Amino acid sequence: MSATPPVRIALSRRGYPGLDDAPLPEGAELVLPDEGAPTDDAALRALAADCDGLVVSTPDRVDAELFDAAPRLKVVALVAVGFDNVDLDEARRRGIVVTHTPGVLADATADLAFSLILMARRLLVPALDTTRAGEWGAFDPQAFLGLQVAGATLGIVGYGDIGSAVGRRGAGFGMTVLQHSRSPRPEDGIAEAVGLDELLERSDVVSLNVPRTPETAGLIGARELDLLGPRGTLVSTARGGVVDEDALLAALREGRIHSAGLDVFATEPLTDAASPLLHEPRLVCLPHIGSASVETRTAMTRMALRNVTAVLSGDDAPNVVPPLRG
Ligand code: GLV
Repeated sequence: MSATPPVRIALSRRGYPGLDDAPLPEGAELVLPDEGAPTDDAALRALAADCDGLVVSTPDRVDAELFDAAPRLKVVALVAVGFDNVDLDEARRRGIVVTHTPGVLADATADLAFSLILMARRLLVPALDTTRAGEWGAFDPQAFLGLQVAGATLGIVGYGDIGSAVGRRGAGFGMTVLQHSRSPRPEDGIAEAVGLDELLERSDVVSLNVPRTPETAGLIGARELDLLGPRGTLVSTARGGVVDEDALLAALREGRIHSAGLDVFATEPLTDAASPLLHEPRLVCLPHIGSASVETRTAMTRMALRNVTAVLSGDDAPNVVPPLRG
């Protein structure tokens, strides 16, 4: 009688914090890419080929081609809350369970959204660049004159775990908070629920916290930015493509909005140093680091591996991705 082969779990990246003491099925083998190995689609297919479980991150594309290359696969566990990189219909068709990590990254991502708000509104990037360059000149009452956060109105588009965590921070900063979600959320005593146009018109600062779906693609374009207006700041820790980047650049250049901050882009990674996005003085750009704290990434890794372990042990996974709301 042949022995049962050990359970194999591939991880698309090295270095997930918390991996050393993450829960694993009995006797499981972890399959990691070699140090410095490519992380493209072909590399992921090769890595997952003989594996039962696969742990992936936001940039990894999980599609039919990958599933074809990995016939043993039973579970794909995202170390992420967003799942727009996974072909869910194809996974479902093949009986492959897809899980994600909701909740645990809400505070880290809300902290980052708030960092973008403060950086953009108070012109902190040009101020830092000037200081670092040794160009701190004589006092000029007009220098780095930003707009105040306290007392301003904060509109949150997408009021789930992350959006509501941004709302709590806004309230703590003395802001009036508005929320808009496709499916109305109960009032929480922090944020008044309004329609999207009303939110844009009434807000000084807008934070985008929606998932990327066909409905949210291009949600914020020239018309919406004009509703926000010349004293408005837009920040996004959602997904690239929710904001029309060309429209955003035009609105910033023409002074039709005050400032903006993006942690997410239509094309990631943003490696073109000549990209106009990276040279717009009132646009703060960060490299998609919403969940990048030790505590949060550790919790995400553990959650992802708990999900893999549950599925491979024949149990229900606690964090199966929900069906997309149409
Ligand atoms: C990061 O973008 C995530 O979806 O967790």
